[in-house]
Amino acid sequence: MGEHIPVVTLDGPAGAGKGTVSRALAQRLGWRYLDSGAIYRSLAVAVMDEGLALEDRAGISAIARTMELRFESDPSPRVILNGRDISDRISSETCGNLTSKIAALGPVRQALLQKQREFRQPPGLVADGRDMGTVVFPDADYKIFLTASAEERAFRRHKQLKEKGIDVSLTRLTNEIEERDQRDRERSEAPLKMADDAFLVDSSAMSIEQVITCCLRWIETSRLR
Ligand code: C5P
Repeated sequence: MGEHIPVVTLDGPAGAGKGTVSRALAQRLGWRYLDSGAIYRSLAVAVMDEGLALEDRAGISAIARTMELRFESDPSPRVILNGRDISDRISSETCGNLTSKIAALGPVRQALLQKQREFRQPPGLVADGRDMGTVVFPDADYKIFLTASAEERAFRRHKQLKEKGIDVSLTRLTNEIEERDQRDRERSEAPLKMADDAFLVDSSAMSIEQVITCCLRWIETSRLR
């Protein structure tokens, strides 16, 4: 048995605030951060660039196995795919929607499993996604499921996109988010669902700071138990 490396998992639907909260948790704990959504999104970019059809499961899985991904955090979070900076491309809703179609393919998820587990390095890891606590790190020490109402999530995403200079209609965004969540929840492979032993946080009426404090407190109390 090697050294035990603690893991916090943060799962939940799109726009619940997982990214901001898990980055903050990683920073406060001094642990590493895994943005598993960015891995799936990068794969979608690679699939688009290669011009592969969704039906080409073998081709997509091959890319998933061979793509070279690098995450940089200094001076700002960047994602480098095969040497090229794709940070701006992965954040679009179009990319998110294609990603959730690709992410439903079993062999693709299998091909990305090891890549994600490699992020578990000392002194600890905060992992953000849909199946972190159920499939990728089922033995995680602290599992959190972060959710919010669909309206609130669409509203937040809308604000986030606007800040990036991307203008989309709120109604369209709400529909797309609901469609994406439904696809993520209903897929047979690693569907979005709360782990039995997860701590549920509904952030609909909470500020990001309140969510971070609430999660940190819960981690601290669980640690003492
Ligand atoms: O979290 P983010 O919005 O970046 O994720 C984009 C999509 O990637 C999700 O809608 C989901 O389909 C997929 N995903 C996944 N499993 C994860 C993380 C993301 O299936 N662990």
